[in-house]
Amino acid sequence: MQRLKDKLALVTGASAGIGMATARALAGEGARVVLVARRLDRVQTLARELPGARALALDVRDGAAVLRALENEPFDLAVVNAGLGLGMGPLDEGSIEDWSTMLDTNVKGLLHTLKAVTPGMRGRGRGDVVLLGSVAGRQVYPGGNVYCATKFAVRGIYESLRVDFAGAGLRFTTVDPGMVETDFSRVRFKGDEERAKKVYAGVHALTPEDIADAILYAVTRPPHVNIGEIVIWASAQASTTVVKRAT
Ligand SMILES: NC(=O)c1ccc[n+]([C@@H]2O[C@H](COP(=O)([O-])OP(=O)(O)OC[C@H]3O[C@@H](n4cnc5c(N)ncnc54)[C@H](OP(=O)(O)O)[C@@H]3O)[C@@H](O)[C@H]2O)c1
Repeated sequence: MQRLKDKLALVTGASAGIGMATARALAGEGARVVLVARRLDRVQTLARELPGARALALDVRDGAAVLRALENEPFDLAVVNAGLGLGMGPLDEGSIEDWSTMLDTNVKGLLHTLKAVTPGMRGRGRGDVVLLGSVAGRQVYPGGNVYCATKFAVRGIYESLRVDFAGAGLRFTTVDPGMVETDFSRVRFKGDEERAKKVYAGVHALTPEDIADAILYAVTRPPHVNIGEIVIWASAQASTTVVKRAT
């Protein structure tokens, strides 16, 4: 039995990593998935693989474009996942441009997506919204500063959604992973493969599929059950600063 048969789902950041694995997991349960990312070729390739899927080129930082593309779609569920880290170092050495990109994508992009999908859900009296937070939204780590701040903001927005939509029939979930091996570090370190590899050296990191599995769990509970917060660590990661690496 397909548990999401005929449901219309949105996944932002579906061109890679957690978003791509989540799109596959949702489609595997019968959902028709709208795949959003800037790299159209990648979401188009994925759309060809997933029955009923559609690809959309969108930069979530562009609020007007996000509203135009998504506000009239009757989504049953939305996974608000698009996000990135850029740079890692002391705050006073940070780049204003990197800060803007992170804040505009991880916070404002998430808000743009919510503004596009939640009014329709409220009108229909149902809908599942999953936000990609992070353990970095619960504990800071040296050099994480602005990226961590964006994920603390995601937690604040998650808690606000719960109270602002109380009784409206919607369910909200924040999924907060630790280390997941994706392109995340490659993007963060701007293509420095060596530095990106070091993040996961000697650690059996989480996979995008591990996170997709948790998202699928949350959105397939019976209607009276709202899984609120899911924190997922790699077993070797005790906190954002303590990681046991095999030598
Ligand atoms: N990897 C980890 O360890 C980890 C841990 C905790 C939380 N997270 C969170 O998980 C989410 C997904 O990250 P990931 O690890 O899967 O990284 P990833 O493999 O680099 O994927 C990031 C996705 O976000 C999309 N994206 C970035 N900027 C965008 C924009 N302006 N407009 C539309 N889409 C945009 C990218 O697509 P395009 O480049 O094609 O636009 C890509 O599909 C992020 O929110 C991240 O903060 C990751």
